[in-house]
Amino acid sequence: MKYALISDIHANLPALRAVHRHITGRPDIDAIYHVGDLVGYAPWPNEVVALIAAEGIAGVAGNYDSTVGTDYKHCGCRYEDPRQEELSHLSYAWTRQHVGPDTKSFLAGLPFRIDLLPNGGHRAGPRVVLVHGTPTLNTVYWTENRPDDFCLKMAQDAGMKAGDVIAFGHTHLPWHREVDGIHFVNTGSLGRPKDGDWRAGYVALEVGEGRVGVEFVRVEYDVEAAMRAIRESDLPDDFAEYLRRGDRPATAPSSR
Ligand SMILES: [Fe+2]
Repeated sequence: MKYALISDIHANLPALRAVHRHITGRPDIDAIYHVGDLVGYAPWPNEVVALIAAEGIAGVAGNYDSTVGTDYKHCGCRYEDPRQEELSHLSYAWTRQHVGPDTKSFLAGLPFRIDLLPNGGHRAGPRVVLVHGTPTLNTVYWTENRPDDFCLKMAQDAGMKAGDVIAFGHTHLPWHREVDGIHFVNTGSLGRPKDGDWRAGYVALEVGEGRVGVEFVRVEYDVEAAMRAIRESDLPDDFAEYLRRGDRPATAPSSR
């Protein structure tokens, strides 16, 4: 089985359309799943959710999805300085104001975790676990520099064994590593990459008999259209620049 995994779309409709077109043009992909964070930071939360629903793309709740869906007080996002905190709150308030009732109930109804059994559930075989952040909370950042012990603890919590795969997003930085035969795959971000590459990202994950293949794919999309729509909305213009750079917004000079 070969899966396309998309995550952290963050209301970026032009990026989602381009990646969806790319994936559906590949005869080797058997199924598409999303790994959460459908909304936030860009002006198409309803359109992105409508496309995901219309295409029947199953997936899990990101922190942005579950906080918007449950009217939580903030998005559960990390910020490193007061400007980032301000931008984070502006994005969250805008998104909550603009999601329609159908979008909100779709987000609230997303499962926390999905298990895929490529060989079928009727016989033993590898398991693919999909979560947004970690198997315990969707707000925890699982970065590449986490020690092996952290990865193995998470795998144990998730009931995983050698040959299994866990895929997650949230950090917007793609990576893959194998520890004790268990594969850990961060799917990066489709709509808001942070690795300095503006192109939309997804992962093609192949799971076969004793074999796991991970392909990180980048797709060009109309980033200018996304930037224009952000500038024309009440969202901070900083988010447009962020998309162009594939990077976090420039921060205000620190007073300290
Ligand atoms: Fe995200």
